[in-house]
Amino acid sequence: MCGIVGYVGHRSATDTVIDGLRRLEYRGYDSAGVAVVSDGAIALEKRAGKLANLEKVLDETPLALAHIGIGHTRWATHGPPNDVNAHPHTGGVRRVALVHNGIIENFMELRERVEADGHELLSDTDTEIVAHLVELQVQSGVDLTTAMQRVCQQLDGAFTLVAIDAEDPDTVVAARCNSPLVVGLGEGENFLGSDVAAFIEFTREALELGQDQIVVMTRDEVRVTDFHGRPVEARQFHVDWDLSAAEKDGHDWFMRKEIFEQPRAVADSLIGRRTANGQLQLDEMRLADEELRDVDKIIIIACGTSFYAGMVAKYAIEHWTRTPVEVELASEFRYRDPIIDATTLIVAISQSGETADTLQAIRHARSQRAKVLAICNTNGSSIPRESDAVIYTHAGPEIGVASTKGFLTQLVACYLLALYIAQVKGTRFGDEIDEIMEQLEAMPGHIETVLEGADAVYELARSHAGTRSVLFLGRHAGYPVALEGALKLKELAYLHAEGFAAGELKHGPIALIEEGLPVLCVVPPKGRDQLHGKMLSGIQEVRARGARTICLAEAGDTSIEPYADDLIRLPKVPVLLQPLVAILPLQLFACELATALGHDVDQPRNLAKSVTVE
Ligand code: G6P
Repeated sequence: MCGIVGYVGHRSATDTVIDGLRRLEYRGYDSAGVAVVSDGAIALEKRAGKLANLEKVLDETPLALAHIGIGHTRWATHGPPNDVNAHPHTGGVRRVALVHNGIIENFMELRERVEADGHELLSDTDTEIVAHLVELQVQSGVDLTTAMQRVCQQLDGAFTLVAIDAEDPDTVVAARCNSPLVVGLGEGENFLGSDVAAFIEFTREALELGQDQIVVMTRDEVRVTDFHGRPVEARQFHVDWDLSAAEKDGHDWFMRKEIFEQPRAVADSLIGRRTANGQLQLDEMRLADEELRDVDKIIIIACGTSFYAGMVAKYAIEHWTRTPVEVELASEFRYRDPIIDATTLIVAISQSGETADTLQAIRHARSQRAKVLAICNTNGSSIPRESDAVIYTHAGPEIGVASTKGFLTQLVACYLLALYIAQVKGTRFGDEIDEIMEQLEAMPGHIETVLEGADAVYELARSHAGTRSVLFLGRHAGYPVALEGALKLKELAYLHAEGFAAGELKHGPIALIEEGLPVLCVVPPKGRDQLHGKMLSGIQEVRARGARTICLAEAGDTSIEPYADDLIRLPKVPVLLQPLVAILPLQLFACELATALGHDVDQPRNLAKSVTVE
């Protein structure tokens, strides 16, 4: 996720900003840049790649000495990671420089407006448009603060913006709407950062900003207002975390932090998917609607957690589009001589975009003339580069080796793809698609609700510290959840953990049941009577043989109570969307149990985040 730094004070702005960016490196990024105001002009440098690339250029040709500046580490969303797309961006006359974290939803419309006014845009980013808009305002005679207020009122989406004006060497102005930003309060200096890690070396006093707020910062003053300039109270707090805790937002592990980022990640992955007239739109769709209409078979290929997202996708795509879907492990796909041709759509799901098995599989598919659509979290990585179309997942960088927010955002992208195909093929009416989109848009709130119950799951997990084996049962869309829950436990707690389709119990797995064996059961929503009833029978069968059942069931489902030794409640959601909430307790369970066992949750033994060898 992008890192943002702002500074005004007595130190060298370039050095302070670069220091801040270095402490935000853990967020992951693919380019970096800095801009300062000196002698009535903006001086700016930015480079693709690691911070070291930027520092090398600055060593050779330093920016003029300045005491006010902004900086950015970019995690590419709009446009590939290169020098031009790196932030800061400026307006056409380079009077305003601006950095941005987030996604501007109405950027196409704003871009058309800016270009129609004769402005030339150099990059592919949504940010450059905002820099132009802010600059146009200051050029019209208002100050930077008013300019920011006016522009924010035109923007839809999630954004943090920080700007400086060449003609105002004293003021940094920032805006926050749904993306993180905190103020660091110093003596005769003030700081801005995506999180407190950016300035913890210089001050531990901080101001928390709310949504839709603007902060105006000089050396000696920090003023916070709403987007209309009305003053608002910001909460001051003292940071007592060390740097490592600050990077993890106070959590012990990146993984735990990422679990709690999921409401935001899901919301971000849904931003900008509908046009003004309600039609679904996807990112880099280099596939014409006619080509999609001709698709008569879809093969989803992926590895690990992404494979389980693909299994959920199969249920959704087949149900909403009536197109046959196969889901295949990428490592198996190429070696079995799969039947594919120009009417087959290959969907490659990969958080990193670099998994060697998946990359080789899409190369093989393309050599057979199939079209490839990637679902990926890493802009500019190999898999989207070599695909015909891409849906980006907007989870932000995932640092914990075991995927969490990567998985949830992949699910969202799969649902969006399914609905898009339904729209193109006309297999669902527009109002049905609208209704499902509304259900999806309600999911961040439901995810939040489940995460609020984390403590009860943690207690349950700790009580299983002596367990050697755990089984997971699910049906329908709950089956991949069971598999993913088991994978999380294997990866983190190094326990024997296996997921089964509950209907398969009697064909073998039931022989594993013995006295006290914990069995986690993902219960389908009550509305799906057949599925629900069959699941209940499965739970009774294992319990009758001595298993200890931990049931995940929707609120209000009392029928499960007699058969659950422990019960975790899930919000009421449609069956196909249930994986988005059902997986959360399983992530929390694995994370806490591994912590209780003293394992390194972020770097489990023998595993790699991105497996770049076959
Ligand atoms: C590794 C990671 C998993 C991930 C899998 C696929 O095994 O440890 O967390 O699910 O690779 O990675 P991808 O980046 O292709 O989604």
